[in-house]
Amino acid sequence: TLDIDRLGEEIIRGYGCIPSFLNYNGYPASICVSLNEEVVHGIPSADRIIKEGDIVSLDAGVIYKGYHSDAARTHAVGEVSKEAEDLIRVTRESFFEGIKYAKEGNHLFDISGAIGRYAEERGYGVVRDLCGHGIGTALHEAPEIPIGDHLHEEPEIPNFAQKRRGIRLMPGMTLAIEPMINAGRPDVVWMDDDWTVVTRDRSLSAHYENTILITDGEPRILSLTEDTP
Ligand code: MF3
Ligand code: CO
Repeated sequence: TLDIDRLGEEIIRGYGCIPSFLNYNGYPASICVSLNEEVVHGIPSADRIIKEGDIVSLDAGVIYKGYHSDAARTHAVGEVSKEAEDLIRVTRESFFEGIKYAKEGNHLFDISGAIGRYAEERGYGVVRDLCGHGIGTALHEAPEIPIGDHLHEEPEIPNFAQKRRGIRLMPGMTLAIEPMINAGRPDVVWMDDDWTVVTRDRSLSAHYENTILITDGEPRILSLTEDTP
């Protein structure tokens, strides 16, 4: 998995960007590489060898002209089980289900509820201990964001229904929406490295994340291209 980090950092710097994860709260790499039952924040290592049948989640953030992006994908390595394939697909689909609600006038947690319902209805465990977030000139935005003469709460963005509806979405807001979905139970645990998050039941987990922009119409998905579905 270290090869992915090396290549990723080189590509990021080649674009004139800065890898935002490197040294973030002490994280030692540019790309989070999480295998199979690892949910997120796997640390790249020369000892972790990827093999056929694995699923590999890659998460990367860059800074360009002072602004942050954050995006993640889970990839199948060669032939994987139907269980793994379905998990990767449903995780991605849950993101797109969520952003149907990412529109001016809707509330932030409309997105959360849509993601959670989509995955839970299909029998998956939606991770509760990690969330999406506001993003902009910081990877995780400040606790309050000024809008006009008001201060609004930080958009911490859970991937499951909330009792509150959350802040009202307004054009110009940029959000990192990132469902983390388990094939088994929703529970996760942290490994001894204090970074790697794994499913408690060691079931497979997938991650799909984009940075999006709220507009007065459809949201723009800023980290999605034809090459990075
Ligand atoms: N993509 C992660 C997030 O959304 C960022 C990982 S922070 C790192 O919060 F330090 F692990 F890189
Ligand atoms: Co993120």
